[in-house]
Amino acid sequence: MESLIGLVNRIQRAITVLGDFGGDALPTLWEALPSVAVVGGQSSGKSSVLESVVGRDFLPRGSGIVTRRPLVLQLQQIEEGKVEYAEFLHLQNKKFTDFSLVRKEIQDETDRLTGKSKQISHVPIHLSIYSPHVVNLTLVDLPGLTKVAIEGQPDSIVEDIEKMVRSYVEKPNCIILAISPANQDIATSDAMKLSREVDPAGERTFGVLTKLDLMDQGTNAIDVLEGRSFRLQHPWVGVVNRSQADINKSIDMIAARRREREYFTDSPDYSHLANKMGSEYLAKLLSQHLESVIRAQIPHITSLINKTSDELEAEMERIGRPVAVDEGAKLYTILELCRSFDRIFKEHLD
Ligand code: GDP
Ligand code: NA
Ligand code: MG
Repeated sequence: MESLIGLVNRIQRAITVLGDFGGDALPTLWEALPSVAVVGGQSSGKSSVLESVVGRDFLPRGSGIVTRRPLVLQLQQIEEGKVEYAEFLHLQNKKFTDFSLVRKEIQDETDRLTGKSKQISHVPIHLSIYSPHVVNLTLVDLPGLTKVAIEGQPDSIVEDIEKMVRSYVEKPNCIILAISPANQDIATSDAMKLSREVDPAGERTFGVLTKLDLMDQGTNAIDVLEGRSFRLQHPWVGVVNRSQADINKSIDMIAARRREREYFTDSPDYSHLANKMGSEYLAKLLSQHLESVIRAQIPHITSLINKTSDELEAEMERIGRPVAVDEGAKLYTILELCRSFDRIFKEHLD
């Protein structure tokens, strides 16, 4: 059976392709689909965490505001032995097996909308990665929260970024992956400040602490990781990503994951938490949680899908099939998709 997360991914892609078809059912359906948004200050380690979760280098990097459009990253597990590849929604039927080309395409596609102006755009880029080594998971990478504009950027960018991030995390269905670096005071973390505002009880926030290896000698993050410094309903997860020196030396992700595991098992401070730390554990935790949130939403989602089907049928009646062939065909395809989604969701409930 198709995974629930895979199914929700297909609905999201269908809605994106259909664009702004008039009715209000589609936007409502979009809002109802749970997602995981990655938030944190600039250089807190967001890209590094995403790459560790995927086990691949594929994100643009550099100083300044690199992520300037939301990146909807859909991870889909495929059978062991099959070839790993990536695909963009805006470039369907082109399979990327070279991940450095994925990085370049994200950069080019960002520039295509924002120019080289270093402005941000709220229009997402959709990227799917099919791999035997990933868990089923959808994550939205967002621009890093920042306090000052850099050379060539309008001052409004600080506020624009916060507004954009907020528009994702304030949705009650959004699972917040809040990234904070361990070598800074957690009380000043941009990620925790924002998540506390939109999720005061910490019910949908997963706290991730990066850069444990960069803390001052003689200090540790046990109070944060054990939930005493900053209380959340979900457990905190500590990670150790590649340092800039590792990246410059091209330490690969497999080696980095192994080193991360060793860091926790060998650490006198953290070995008692070792099986609940690291990027691989984080990926599994999020995948399970996302799946359970979707499952709880199935009755609501199917009723919205049925409402969407009704609206689409009415719209098709209105434009008349023979008249607007293209538009009619598009609506018809989506309608068929809706019907199959409804059927598959019901199978999950049986
Ligand atoms: P982003 O701006 O939030 O996406 O942050 P990046 O993932 O690009 O990380 C910023 C810098 O911090 C990069 O040079 C990373 O190599 C480094 N970095 C991120 N996480 C860690 C970590 O856990 N340990 C160490 N030593 N460096 C890290
Ligand atoms: Na932060
Ligand atoms: Mg980044």
